[in-house]
Amino acid sequence: MTATRPRGPFREGDRVQLTGPKGRMHTITLRAEGELHTHHGVLRHRDLIGLPDGSVVANSSGHEYLVLRPLLRDFVMSMPRGAAIVYPKDAGQIVVQADVFPGATVVEAGVGSGALSLSLLRAIGDEGRLLSFERREDFAEVARANVETFLGELPPTWDVIVGDLVESLPEAVAPGTVDRVVLDMLAPWECIDAVAEALAPGGVVLCYIATATQLSRVAEYIRGTGLFTDPESSETMVRGWHVEGLAVRPDHRMVAHTGFLITARRLAPGAVPPDVKRRAAKKASYGDEDVELWTPGAVGDREITDKNLRKRVREAQRAAGGARLAAEGRSEPGASA
Ligand SMILES: C[S@@+](CC[C@H](N)C(=O)[O-])C[C@H]1O[C@@H](n2cnc3c(N)ncnc32)[C@H](O)[C@@H]1O
Repeated sequence: MTATRPRGPFREGDRVQLTGPKGRMHTITLRAEGELHTHHGVLRHRDLIGLPDGSVVANSSGHEYLVLRPLLRDFVMSMPRGAAIVYPKDAGQIVVQADVFPGATVVEAGVGSGALSLSLLRAIGDEGRLLSFERREDFAEVARANVETFLGELPPTWDVIVGDLVESLPEAVAPGTVDRVVLDMLAPWECIDAVAEALAPGGVVLCYIATATQLSRVAEYIRGTGLFTDPESSETMVRGWHVEGLAVRPDHRMVAHTGFLITARRLAPGAVPPDVKRRAAKKASYGDEDVELWTPGAVGDREITDKNLRKRVREAQRAAGGARLAAEGRSEPGASA
């Protein structure tokens, strides 16, 4: 049975998030004899044990703290990192776009700090299986520790395999038995052949990549194999909003870029989908079609006739003439501003 998130009153061993004076946050693991020392005073862990989630407690100087068990998204943003993590906004999209379902057999590489592993473990449920490959032993250790901290145990649905995916995947799974593969690494194209072998027909491969050049390279590699549906690419931007009284507006700052997602589905052996048959040979340069995409008509601007344009020029000149007269009037002696 996969570890469930703790509920009910705070217990020893729970990880909790404290929001203190001026919004400063601390994450601590409750110990009977533990104490949080800050320059605002001392907070004894034992004063929290037994309280319900979402309580407010005061420290030795009367400073108050809001205490909550962190959500998965809070935890991944504050957990120790060996490598860059998949942000929560992308993890949510990955689960949906890769269609990770309860009971699925999922392969993930690399495991990095284990942020995405946590979302994938949730999505596969108690009957699924997640095999996470990582070529760096030290990163795998960080990921194991993070998952154990959040779930309270290493779930029986999870295997971490230290090694390069290309070499280790064929040893770990039989061909055509994996439902979903998620790749988060610098060079996912190096792994596509091994992934094609492991995926069941209809299975999904999803790559999370940081740059447009990587996106292009992996898309062309996937197409070139002829073993997948045409890949689909996207990015996700999440803009927070400040909503307070009449001050309702987008936040001034946001995380604008994290990565792109690209997905494709494994075809049945020998299958050639109709749209691939129609597709012309791979484009080496920009064609008329690409240029046409940026014409005013294609981007939604209305075409303007010569007559209309002449009219607008006259309007603009009239406005400029008016502005000139007004400026001359202002500069005449005795003219009011
Ligand atoms: C950006 S990190 C992954 C972060 C992870 N998804 C998370 O959310 O915490 C990329 C990881 O892929 C690993 N890696 C790169 N190529 C690999 C390969 N061929 N096989 C296994 N691991 C690989 C790297 O060592 C690195 O730890």
